[in-house]
Amino acid sequence: MSNEVAAFIKDYLGIKSPKIAIILGSGLYDFVDKIQNKKVLKYKYLPEFPESTVEGHNGELICGTIEGKEILCINGRVHLYEGNNPRKIADAINSLKDLGIEKLIVTNAAGSLNKKIAPGSIMLINDHINFSGKNPLIGPNDEHYGPRFSAMNDAYTPKLLEKIKKIAKKEKIDICEGVYLMVLGPSFETPAEIRMFAKFGADAVGMSTVPEVIAAAHCSMEVLGISVITNYGAGLATNTPSHQETLEVANKSSANLCHLLMMFIKEEG
Ligand code: HPA
Repeated sequence: MSNEVAAFIKDYLGIKSPKIAIILGSGLYDFVDKIQNKKVLKYKYLPEFPESTVEGHNGELICGTIEGKEILCINGRVHLYEGNNPRKIADAINSLKDLGIEKLIVTNAAGSLNKKIAPGSIMLINDHINFSGKNPLIGPNDEHYGPRFSAMNDAYTPKLLEKIKKIAKKEKIDICEGVYLMVLGPSFETPAEIRMFAKFGADAVGMSTVPEVIAAAHCSMEVLGISVITNYGAGLATNTPSHQETLEVANKSSANLCHLLMMFIKEEG
C-alpha cells in the first residue's frame, strides 16, 4: 500500500533521491521560502497523509532543493487531537521510507517547563516522554518496516545531534538541549500538570512530534528533533498560552532555525 503511494509521489513530484525529509511545526513555515525548484503535492491526493484542520498548517508535500540538495518537506503536520488515527502517522512515515528517506527532521513549537529555557529559544530534542497515551505502532506490525517491539534508546540520533551542535557553534546560533514531553491536547496544560512534567525530567511540552519519531525509529530512520520554545508552560509565568502566541513567537525565531537547518541539509543531504 505505502509502496504505491511512494511511487505516485515520486512520479508526480519528479523526485530523484532525496535523503532528508523535514516536518514543519506551527509557525515555522518560512523554511518553505528557502526551497528552490519547488513542486507541490496537496495531501488531499494522498490517502496516506491525513489532512490537517489546524489554522496555520498547510497540508502539502513539497519537493525541491536546499543548498543544491534535494529534500522533501512536509508542510503542515497532522495532530492526534484532530481525531486522527495514530496509525495514519506511521503509514505516512513508512511512505517516506519507501521513497528512500534516510533522515527525518522534525520541528515543533513547544512550551517551556524550565525557567532557564526562555521563549524564543531553539531546543534540540535529545529524548522524549510519550504522555499522549497513544502509539502509532498499535495494530498489526509490518515486519518489512521494523520489529513488533521497537527499541527507542537512540530515537534522536546522537550523531545528528552532535552534527547540528557543531553547526550551531560555527554559525554562532544559540541552542539548548532537552527532553520533549508530548500531551494529547488540544487543551493547554494546567499549572499542576506543568509542575509534574518538570519533575518527570521534561524541559518542553507540546502536542506533536512523538508519533512521527516513534514511527521513524521503528523503520530505522535517523531523526533530528528541534523545538522552538514559544512560551512558558502554564503557571511558570504570568502569560496564558495561546495558539496565536505560538504562531507569533515561532515565526520570530524561524530565521535562526531556517539558517541552522539549511547548513545541516547542506552537509547531510
Ligand atoms: N503546551 C502545549 N503545546 C504547546 C505549548 C504549550 O505550552 N506551546 C506551544 N505548543
